[in-house]
Amino acid sequence: MSQREQWSSKIGFILAAAGSAIGLGAIWKFPYIAGQNGGGAFFLIFILFTLLLGLPLLLAEFSIGRTAQSNAVDSYRKIAPGTRWHWVGILGMITSFILLSFYSVIGGWIVVYLFKAITGQLNNLSSDQYAEVFGATISNPVTSVFVQFLFILMTIIVVAKGVQKGIELASKIMMPALFILFILLVVRAVTLDNAMDGITFLLQPDFSKVTSQTILEAMGQSFFTLSVGVSVMVTYSSYLPKTQSLPRSAISIVAMNIFIVLLAGLAIFPAVFAFDLEPGAGPVLLFNVLPTVFSQLPFGMFFFIAFLILFLFAALTSAFSMLEIIVSVISKGEPEKRRKWSWIIGLAIFVFGIPSALSFGILGDITLFDKTIFDLADFAVSNVLLPIGSLLISLFVPMKMKKTALYEELKQGSGLKRGLFETWFFLIRFVAPLLILAVMLDVLGVI
Ligand code: ALA
Repeated sequence: MSQREQWSSKIGFILAAAGSAIGLGAIWKFPYIAGQNGGGAFFLIFILFTLLLGLPLLLAEFSIGRTAQSNAVDSYRKIAPGTRWHWVGILGMITSFILLSFYSVIGGWIVVYLFKAITGQLNNLSSDQYAEVFGATISNPVTSVFVQFLFILMTIIVVAKGVQKGIELASKIMMPALFILFILLVVRAVTLDNAMDGITFLLQPDFSKVTSQTILEAMGQSFFTLSVGVSVMVTYSSYLPKTQSLPRSAISIVAMNIFIVLLAGLAIFPAVFAFDLEPGAGPVLLFNVLPTVFSQLPFGMFFFIAFLILFLFAALTSAFSMLEIIVSVISKGEPEKRRKWSWIIGLAIFVFGIPSALSFGILGDITLFDKTIFDLADFAVSNVLLPIGSLLISLFVPMKMKKTALYEELKQGSGLKRGLFETWFFLIRFVAPLLILAVMLDVLGVI
C-alpha cells in the first residue's frame, strides 16, 4: 500500500489491525506461557493487563497514527519536531526485526506440520508419537531452517508487492473460519475424560504460583498479542479516514484477541490433562497437543489440515505487519524501494533468526542467562523491548500531544463521551507508565 493510501472500508482496517494482533501470540504463545506459569492466575493477570494497559495503549497508538498520518518514525517527528521522540519508532523497528526472527521459526513449524499432515505422515499416531515426530523434525537443522525460510519468503513476497489489502480481504473469510474450527476443537477438548482438570487449571487462579516473573510474563504477553509497543498500530491507523471510530476498533480487537486466547486455552489444557501431557512443555506444547485432540474428532486429519492452513494465515498476517512497519519507514512509500527493501530486510531477518531455528537442535545447549537463543530473543522482545516501547508511548502521548486535540481526534467518528476519554487519559498518563515501571523494577529486585 502506498504511504497515504487509505483503507477502502472500515472493515479493511479492523481486519488488518486484528490480523496483526491475532497470531502466534494468542494461539501458540499463550498456552505455553500460561502452562509454565501455573495457569489460572497467569490468565487472570494477563486479562487485567490487557484491559488496563493493552487497550489504552492500542488506542494511544491509534491516536498518534491518525493524528500524524505518517509512518512509525515520522509520526513522532511530526508531532514532536526537533526532539528525539522518533527513537520510539526506531525502537519499534528494531523490536519488530527481532520479533520476526523468532516468529518465523514457529511459522516454519506450522508449514512443516502442514506438509506432514497432507502427506499422511501423521495418520494414526499416539500422542507420544506425535511429540516424537515433532521433536525429531524441529531438531533437524536443515528442515527447521528451510521451513523458517519458507515462512519469511511468503512474508517478503506479500509485503514487497504491497498487496496486504487483498490479504486483509481474504481474512474476512479466514478469521471467522478459524474461530469456528477453534470452537469445534474446544467442544471436543472439553468433553474428553478428565477435561475438568484442564479447565480448572486454566480458569481457577492459584496465586501461590505467582512470582515477579509471572507478572512480567503476563504483561509481556498482553503487549505481544496486541502488537502494541512496536508502533505497528501507529502505522496501520495512519491510513485511516477520520470517520472511523478509534475506540470501537480498539475494543473489538481486544475482545477478539481475548476470545481467541480463551479458545486456545480451552482447546489445549483439557487435552493436556486428559492425555497426561506436561503443561510446562514450553514452545512445543501446542504442536504436541493439537494433533492428539484432532485425532479424537471424526475426519480429524481433514480438520487438522484446515486448522493449520488458517493458523498459518493468522501467523502470516501478523508477520506482514512486522515487516511492513520497517519497510514503510525505509522505503517512504515508493514502490521500487518497497520491493528492494522488503527483500533486503526480510532476508536479513531470516539470517538473524537462523540461530533461533537451531535452538531446538544443534544449538540447543548454547544458553545465556539459562535461556536458549530462541528463548532469549523471545524474552528480550516480550519482556524488555515491548514494555520499554509501551512505556515510552505512554509518556509521549500526554507529554507531547495536547489533551484537547487528543479528545477531538478520539471523538471523530465515535462521539466518545468526555468521561470515557478522561478514564482513558488517566490510564495512559498515570496507570500505564507507573505499572510498567513497577513490574520491571520488581523483576529487577529494585522494589
Ligand atoms: N501480535 C502478534 C501475535 O500475537 C505478534 O502473533
